Parts: sequence; C-alpha cells; structure tokens
Amino acid sequence: MTYPQRYTVTTALPYANGPIHIGHLAGVYVPADIYVRYLRMKNKEVAFIGGSDEHGVPITIQAKLEGVSPQDIVNKYHQIIKKSFKDFGISFDVYSRTSAKIHHETATEFFKTLYDQGEFVEKTIEQLYDAEARMFLADRYVQGRCPKCTYEEAYGDQCENCGSSLSPTELIEPKSVLSGAKPVLRKTKHWYLPLDKYENWLKDWIVKGKKGEWKPNVFGQCSSWINDGLRARAVTRDLDWGVPVPVDGAEGKVLYVWFDAPIGYISATKEMTTDWEKWWKSKDSKLVHFIGKDNIVFHCIIFPSMLKAEGSYILPDNVPANEFMNLEGNKISTSKNWAVWLHEYLKDFPGQQDVLRYVLTSNAPETKDNDFTWKDFQAKNNNELVAILGNFINRVVVLTHKYFDGQVPESDSLKSFKEFHVEEIKDRVDKALDNYKFREGLAEMMTLARAGNKYLADTEPWHLIKTDKKAVATILNNCLQISANLAILMAPFLPYTSQKVFETLNLKKSFLKWDYIGKVDLLEEGQQIIKANLLFTKVEDKEIENQVNKLTSTKNQNQKRETHFPIKEEIEFDDFLKMDIRIVKIIEAEKVPNTDKLLKLKIDLGFEQRTIISGIAHLYKPEEMIGKQASYLANLKARKIKGVESRGMILMIQESDSGLKFLSPDGEAELGSTVG
Ligand code: MF3
Ligand code: ZN
Repeated sequence: MTYPQRYTVTTALPYANGPIHIGHLAGVYVPADIYVRYLRMKNKEVAFIGGSDEHGVPITIQAKLEGVSPQDIVNKYHQIIKKSFKDFGISFDVYSRTSAKIHHETATEFFKTLYDQGEFVEKTIEQLYDAEARMFLADRYVQGRCPKCTYEEAYGDQCENCGSSLSPTELIEPKSVLSGAKPVLRKTKHWYLPLDKYENWLKDWIVKGKKGEWKPNVFGQCSSWINDGLRARAVTRDLDWGVPVPVDGAEGKVLYVWFDAPIGYISATKEMTTDWEKWWKSKDSKLVHFIGKDNIVFHCIIFPSMLKAEGSYILPDNVPANEFMNLEGNKISTSKNWAVWLHEYLKDFPGQQDVLRYVLTSNAPETKDNDFTWKDFQAKNNNELVAILGNFINRVVVLTHKYFDGQVPESDSLKSFKEFHVEEIKDRVDKALDNYKFREGLAEMMTLARAGNKYLADTEPWHLIKTDKKAVATILNNCLQISANLAILMAPFLPYTSQKVFETLNLKKSFLKWDYIGKVDLLEEGQQIIKANLLFTKVEDKEIENQVNKLTSTKNQNQKRETHFPIKEEIEFDDFLKMDIRIVKIIEAEKVPNTDKLLKLKIDLGFEQRTIISGIAHLYKPEEMIGKQASYLANLKARKIKGVESRGMILMIQESDSGLKFLSPDGEAELGSTVG
C-alpha cells in the first residue's frame, strides 16, 4: 500500500430535517473525525468536508409537519446540527449546506456538463400522482408494502426494513403520505442516468479491484448490486424544492436529491478554498467517504458513475460504511423519538463529550449493528475511563505533587520505559486506523493506560516512598512519560481529554504529532506540572435510570422531537369570547356510508340534541364513542357534509398526525356547562 500525502475526507451530509443523535455520531462522524485527526497528526494534508443536505422530500415533509416553509426548516436544523458537531469536536474544515448559492451553481453546472455530453436518457413515464394534493408523489411522499420483504411502510425510493432501493410504482398498495389517497398514474418526463452503461466498468473497478480492500459489508452490497444488473435511474423529480433542472422543458422539475447532495462535497470544498481542484482532480489525492450502510449504493455506484461520466474527477479510494447503532434493543427512530439527541446529552452530561465518543467508538457498529445501552455507557465510563485511564493519570499527577512538589523527578533505569512497548502499541493503532478499525485502535490505546495502571499497582510507590525515594522517582518519571505518550495517542479519539492532559503536564503543543509517540523524554526532569483536575467522573445509577426513564416515558415517545405546531396569530379577548364551548355527551354514533373517516354523531347538550359529522371514524369505532363526554363548539355555523347538516364541532386534542383524543371534563360534568 502506498500512503499519499493528501486526503479528501467526506462525511454523509445529514438531512437538515431534524437534530442529530448518537446513531449519526457512531456511524459516521466520530470515526471520520478520529481518522482525520490521526492524519493531521501524521502531517498529511487533509480536507475534512461536511455539510447539511437541504433538499429532497425529507425536508418538504418536515416543513409540512411543522407548518413552515422548507427554507425555514433547513435554516433551523442546519444551525442545530452544525452546533452539535462543533460541540462534539467534529473537526470539519468546512461545514456547508446544499441550499448555498455555490452549491446550486456547482450542481447545475455538473448536470449541464453531463447533459451536453449526452450522458442522460430522456423518458416520459407514468408516475404516481396525488389528485387531491395535485402533486406527483416522489420518493418518500408515497408509502406502501415492500415488494421484497413485505414491510408495510416502505418508501417510494427505499425500504428501510430490508434496504432495497425501490421506485414508487413497485410499492404494493401505495398510499399518498400527503392525503392518504390512492395515487393515480400520470405521465411526466424525466432524465435518467443509464447505469447499465457503467456496469462493466463498475465490475472492473469494484468487483475485481476493491476485493479485500473495501470492508466486506460494503464490498458485498456493491457486488450483489452490480451482479444483479444495473438499470437507468431517474435523476430528476417533479418537486418545487431543490436545484431546478437547468434545461428547456423542465419547468417545475428539480434534480433528484441524491444527484445533487454528493455534489455538495465538491461545492463545500469550493466554499473552503479557491484551490479546490487539487482535492478533487489530482491523482495524488485520496478520496474517502464516511457513510452509513443505507448510503452505500449512492456512494459506491451512483456518485462514482456520475464522476466517471463527467470525466475530470478522481474516484473514491475507499467508502468505509458502518452498520447501524441501535438504542436499548430497538432501532433508533426519529419519529418515535427513540433516540439520544446530542444537544440533550450535553445538557445532562456537560463537558462529557469524550465519554460519548469513547463509548460509541468502543462499541462502533463496524461489522454488524450494535446496541447502545445506558448500562453499558455507565460501565464503560466507570470501569474504563474512570478506573483505568483517569485513575492512572490522576494518581501519577497527585503522587508527583506529593513527593516531588509537582516536578518531574529524575529517572534511572530501574524499569526501563522501553518495557512498555509504546512503539509497538503505536504501530498497532496505526495499522488499525489505516484500515478503518477504530474500535481496535481505541482498545490498543487503552492497553497502554492499563499497563501504566498495573505498573503503579505493582510497584506501589506510596509504600516504597518510605524506603526508596530514588526508586519512586524513576517509577513516577516512567509514569509521567507514559501519561505524555497517552496524551498524544488518545488525541484522535478523545480530543478534549488529550488537551486536558497536555495542560496538566505542561506538554509542549508541538508534541501533538504522531511521531512523538514512543519518545521517552517528552517531559524533562525538573519540569513543573500543574495540579490534577479529574479527567472523568463516575456516573451514578440514578443518572442512568433518569436517562432510561426519559427514553421510555410515553409522553416523550409521543412527542415529535423538537417539532410542534407553531402558535397561531394573536387574537383579541373578544374574539375568544365569541366561541361558545359546551360539555356534551355523545348518545348515538354511526358510520357515514361510503366514507372512510366520517362518523355521524348525535350529541346531547342537556337542553337540546344535535347531529354532527365528525372525521374520526379511522380512530374510533362508533360503539366506543357512545356515552363519552366531550367539549363542543356550539355556535359554529352549520355545514352540509355528505348531505347531512352538521352543527358545531367536537373539539379534539391533536398530539401527532395519527393520534386524536377527546378533550373531556375531569370527571362527569353537567351537560351544557360552558367552557371558557
Ligand atoms: N442526507 C442523506 C442521508 O441522511 C445522506 C446524503 S450523503 C450525500 O441519508 F452524499 F448525498 F451528501
Ligand atoms: Zn423491504
């Protein structure tokens, strides 16, 4: 293997449709950050590229959910996401966004180049269309049964259960996410990238060329894709949010988000430097994409085919994709709020970024899905970070102050530093990181901390001091040198802790280089070190219980993460007084024939009975409603619904899209009572 000097390292651009959670960190950003910190320490030239993915249906759906514009959504979440990355020390050289002008320009130009070269195939096809919402149902706007695994909630572009990539018309019993309606077929024109044309080239490049080099999970997925035969993929969509398709006759169409987003890596590099081409067009730059497993096909097959078609770009050298991190035995789910959100973690564990980085790395889903549990978090913190790494460095610093006034004592060769085999540990960490085995690298780093800890326990300087101060001096000198080496060795993994140790030991900043690992004289004899401050603190059972409770409390699960309906415009008190709200009892209920959602209810106001039509038949059975008390808007103008006059309206609590509850009195109330 040859080692280039220049690395272009990208991380999947997260959709700016919500905050980010531990799954994102574990799968993509922490490993990528470890890798680039390591490369920088080896004096490699690195561009570490990130940004928000701000187009596509995931954004427009979230906008609809929050009742704001797509631009509002991406503005909000881009900031939250960017801050989380900064807070966790993800050391991007640039963090851009795909709504940026530079990106629109770059993506437009890229499309045009391929278009002018005749790389696309133009096709008019039948697509699913929602006649109620008057929209084509691209990608996630349509859900239905997966034709491969029968999962009921597969999306029009992908099944999240089995990972198959789908097209909307393949779904069985498709439903519009917008209206619930059954879509109809309608003709529309799109541009396709004929992947079949690249099949032979992909076979050579990946199936023959990357075997044994790419991770088995990545290589396996790619080979099976390629061997199954590739088909043309549409790279445009009928949507009004995204990069407009820059050719005549494409009004109302935008680039498919998976066409524009990876180009975002290039746009971000342009934002970073005018000298961007060396990162993308120079043969001696090595391009590495860090992603999650659901992104493999896009980064290994589609984007490389685009780059190849364009012709002037380098191709990814490696795509170290991870599997998924689950949480307490279940898949992390944004909509079910089954997640540990990064901004919330930091509120509960301020200053403890490295603990999470450590736990996520030591348990990284590198070869299979893994599980994050709070118990394991506590155990790793208490038994490894506190008891081994923190304990070792803390004891060394405390003892140095106690016996030698905080000055690095003189060493003779009682036990040679060489016996700690730091060079060999370094080589093993090297090898692990070069091969994207981050958990192994971290475990190797910890062997040095373990060795140091054991050395202290075996030599017992706190006893020895009574008889042999000289020997204690040597022991502590060795321990201090090991601590200094650890400070460098841990830096890619635990950057905050490394910095603390650097400060405590008064280590020169210039020593933060990989080459210094293994040196015996990082600290000079007589050098003053400062007082210890604890590197890690014990996590108590109570804290863990709180986290688990927070996760499992139903209230929390029903909340849609940060989202909420925005507060409506202000009104006058008089406006409020105009509403006549009463407590009523439902006395009869029946379904309105030939409708899905409508129930005909008879309600009793105590002094009068009325008929109303209510759209809740999909949530309540008629017989469940009878006898219930509810709040009722009595003076709403009557309307005719399906031929029946409906007077007033039952008030419902809307928790989320699917859940509606009655706003009932606390105990029985007298019928006709007013509410206000
Ligand atoms: N936004 C996508 C996701 O979250 C990832 C996009 S990666 C890029 O799955 F390459 F397209 F940018
Ligand atoms: Zn499936």
